Amino acid sequence: MRLDKFLADTTDLTRSLATKAVKQGRVLVNGEKPKSASAKVDESDEVTLDGEVLTLESGFRYFIMNKPLGHVCTHRDSTHPLVFDLLDGVVNRMDLHTVGRLDMDTTGLLLITDDGQWSHHLTSPKHHQPKTYRAWLAEDLRTDAEEKLAKGIVLEDDPEPTKPAQLERVTEREVLLTIHEGRYHQVRRMFAALGNHVEKLHREKMGCMQLDPALKEGEFRPLTDDEIDALAHG
Ligand code: URA
Repeated sequence: MRLDKFLADTTDLTRSLATKAVKQGRVLVNGEKPKSASAKVDESDEVTLDGEVLTLESGFRYFIMNKPLGHVCTHRDSTHPLVFDLLDGVVNRMDLHTVGRLDMDTTGLLLITDDGQWSHHLTSPKHHQPKTYRAWLAEDLRTDAEEKLAKGIVLEDDPEPTKPAQLERVTEREVLLTIHEGRYHQVRRMFAALGNHVEKLHREKMGCMQLDPALKEGEFRPLTDDEIDALAHG
């Protein structure tokens, strides 16, 4: 592999910044300055940047995060912080994507990966992976809410009724709602269609995966192999 690609794959540098770092003498291969950024390296070579040894990660990466309020699930936003900004110490974050999205104002379980097939399985309408949200409402819930949500409701600007959703009342203003699809702002719009308003929204579960209670808002950890497999086959 070319050295500039190796550097781009193991650090936050783009290929052109990697070339610059080589020219600046910040990169050593087996203790020596390489002739150019196009020099060939492989796993047997020790490559350092500013004295730090770089290692090529093999295979895909999978993380679970407890998304905090105010962060957005995209790679570019000029006004809001990104969930990717929270991935302290994770290199090559530009290759990562979120598995579906949570609104800026929604907290909770967010999966992040660079494995497109795995995330497709989790988000594809074909697989109907359930997602459970805890919602805090502005008004007491209507008595017929369970029935309406179970039948499917028509959202504003969308003639197709929602798929049957399961509602569990915790109190009259706190509920757990499980949905099996992922439309834009779906949970907020479902409660709006019932004449209510979601004040706070938190995702607790996706497929077979429950939000890890050890993760505080803004924290993340790698998924275990068992969790990755269970989500892939759920
Ligand atoms: N439904 C919403 O309204 N917002 C989310 O972030 C997820 C589901």
